[in-house]
Amino acid sequence: MAKPRVLVVKRIPSVALSALEDACDVEIHSGDRELTSDDLIARLQGKQGLVSVLTTPVTRDVLAACPELKVVANIAVGYNNIDVTVARERGVIVTNTPDVLTEASADLAWALILGITRRVVEGDRLVRTGNWKGWALDFMLGSDLRGKQLGVIGFGRIGQAVAARASAFGMRVAYQSRKAVGPPEYQPMAFDRLIATSDVVSLHCPLTEETRHLIDQTSLARMKRSAYLINTARGPVVDEAALVWALKNRIIAGAALDVYEEEPRVHPELRTLDNVVLAPHLGSATTETRTAMADLAVQNVIAVLSGRPPLTPVG
Ligand code: GLV
Repeated sequence: MAKPRVLVVKRIPSVALSALEDACDVEIHSGDRELTSDDLIARLQGKQGLVSVLTTPVTRDVLAACPELKVVANIAVGYNNIDVTVARERGVIVTNTPDVLTEASADLAWALILGITRRVVEGDRLVRTGNWKGWALDFMLGSDLRGKQLGVIGFGRIGQAVAARASAFGMRVAYQSRKAVGPPEYQPMAFDRLIATSDVVSLHCPLTEETRHLIDQTSLARMKRSAYLINTARGPVVDEAALVWALKNRIIAGAALDVYEEEPRVHPELRTLDNVVLAPHLGSATTETRTAMADLAVQNVIAVLSGRPPLTPVG
């Protein structure tokens, strides 16, 4: 019997690729150029599986134009690039890669929290440009974390893993979540209060119509002037132009971002500011984690195309 046919939109680790090739006839898009929805439509004809990433536009049109498609396995925990409603209507199974990236993503959020509050990247720039004049008692002072409040918005797996690391830094945790799930040592809080009382606000919610521009000029203006905003969720959760305004006018002390409204484009004024750390979407970017993510996506495709239930379906 002919093997099912699968399109993979990026190079993936060889262990995952070999497992997929054992079960399926695989076509890989290995160039750096992102596939557009038109490219996807052309390349998915006659294919039953798609291994996608968070930049792959699996739109209504793509799904409608690829009637043989049975499974879309996103190598990401977020899946706002896929029209899940239309996929469901058309019987296409969508899967993501939860759990395997939780710890790496939480670590990166803390790297950013420490990076911005202790001015690590700003300091690195100073040293590299030869402008460091030497140690001084009042030189490049940051902010302590001990005794302060970490406000976690979105209390799923990654939000909870970020919260779990807070006690090591002496921070108390407040969280905002649609479902109150936290252990008693963490304080559930309404959004407005969390924003107004936290010293570090860290975003861990998915991008939905409700969370688009959740952090806008109004919420930034409610934050403490000494507070920091961390975004490792999705760029459009923050209104980038409003954030530029808040950083330039010292409405908040600083921000650290791993995600942007229109990646890889970054608001040009953000690049000129010292009180922001800019990471290039590295949340899950460790060798071990990316390998586990690719492996999980591949296992999802193989399961669906061999008539078994997927390991991690969304929705
Ligand atoms: C990364 O941003 C992911 O959703 O996995």
